[in-house]
Amino acid sequence: MKVLVTGIDGYTGWPLALHLLARGHDVVGIDNFVTRRRVKEVGADSATPIKPFPKRIEAVRELTGKTIGFHKGDLGDYEFVDRVLRSEKPDAIVHLAEQRSAPYSMIDVHHAVTTQVENLTGTLHILYAMREHTPEAHLIKMGTMGEYGTPNIEIPEGFFEIEYKGRKDLLPFPRQGGSWYHWSKVFDSGDVMFASKIWGLRATDVMQGVVYGTRTPEITDNRLLTRFDFDEVWGTALNRFVVQALLGLPITPYGAGEQRRGFLALEDSMQSLRIAVESPPPAGEYRVWNQFDEEYSVNQLAEITQTVAAEKGIAATIEHPPDPRHEAERHFYHPIHEALPALGYRRSRELPEVIREIFADLRRYRRRIEAKRHTIAPVVRWATGDNRSAVHGRAPTSTVTAPVATPAAASPTGVPSSE
Ligand SMILES: NC(=O)c1ccc[n+]([C@@H]2O[C@H](COP(=O)([O-])OP(=O)(O)OC[C@H]3O[C@@H](n4cnc5c(N)ncnc54)[C@H](O)[C@@H]3O)[C@@H](O)[C@H]2O)c1
Repeated sequence: MKVLVTGIDGYTGWPLALHLLARGHDVVGIDNFVTRRRVKEVGADSATPIKPFPKRIEAVRELTGKTIGFHKGDLGDYEFVDRVLRSEKPDAIVHLAEQRSAPYSMIDVHHAVTTQVENLTGTLHILYAMREHTPEAHLIKMGTMGEYGTPNIEIPEGFFEIEYKGRKDLLPFPRQGGSWYHWSKVFDSGDVMFASKIWGLRATDVMQGVVYGTRTPEITDNRLLTRFDFDEVWGTALNRFVVQALLGLPITPYGAGEQRRGFLALEDSMQSLRIAVESPPPAGEYRVWNQFDEEYSVNQLAEITQTVAAEKGIAATIEHPPDPRHEAERHFYHPIHEALPALGYRRSRELPEVIREIFADLRRYRRRIEAKRHTIAPVVRWATGDNRSAVHGRAPTSTVTAPVATPAAASPTGVPSSE
């Protein structure tokens, strides 16, 4: 199949491209490199040194003899999206290219608006261009388990049967985002569902849990490494915990640390997305999959990290700073995940094993991590309307830019010098 991966330069987009290629698919990508730029905006950097995109493709060609097609551009530019879909006519589109950081969206009004405008505009542009040029293609839209929030009942895969005042219906399960970012994902889930209904498009909306890991079997060379963020804005809790242990800092679950979420390994996220690509739904069907392997509380992540650190001779301590977010610190959490196993998905990696691998990888980049240790502690607070000076106070002044609300201007297509 020919698969278009939007966000091919990102943490998950790059290993997905490698995985699909290895499975015999043709891969074409889109990216505007905005994540690279925005991580620098908050003074941070990937722990792993990632190659400029042209060098990544060159390395793939040299190592595998295979070619990845690429279009540099912004999903906020409809002419660009229209041109790519018209010329490439993909069988499947895996849409990953969105602003994906909850804390980034909570920095201030500009970051909130940028997040919602970009995420909704990019998705709508893809939907319209699909309708025009590839109505038979399958859209795999990356959502997040965070769209559901933490309701006090079981979370189904997208829809649930409900009886209300004597009548029954199968309805979308209520969504309760926990940041402007999460609400942007809720809104564009609604847009994908609506487009499937009115235009007969086929779509899989993947509610993905938090992805962890530095490696997949296809990352066989340092030139193929994917990014690994560990600062408070772009890094996930687990990434921060491993880096804290490595640097001899306390591991810091926010608040009580009993917040529970679903998690899965990078390699298994790739497996799930490949299964989605290879098993499209019928025309007009909008289906929702919950994609994770296991639920952990943040405290459990901290304790497992501490145990693995101890194996490496590091005596890490655990501390609980106040939670900068607005979230339940203790709650019921029981999401269902049955659709993927029914299609043959099997978990291939366990968390402690992957944490060992992350430790081994990151140790080689200790100097890079040391240089950014000041970006780990939380300064973005959900209750504060303007966190800009706190965040940007950490960045070198030359990289400080306030994003603007229009998508085209917010994501210039020029490649920054770091690439
Ligand atoms: N990583 C996770 O744990 C996780 C969990 C749940 C959901 N997700 C979702 O998965 C998707 C991919 O996440 P990721 O971790 O790979 O993020 P990422 O930021 O590393 O990758 C996204 C890529 O898309 C590009 N991009 C963003 N906006 C663009 C635009 N308007 N035009 C062109 N390119 C653009 C970025 O430059 C980046 O390379 C996101 O939609 C995210 O919300 C990620």
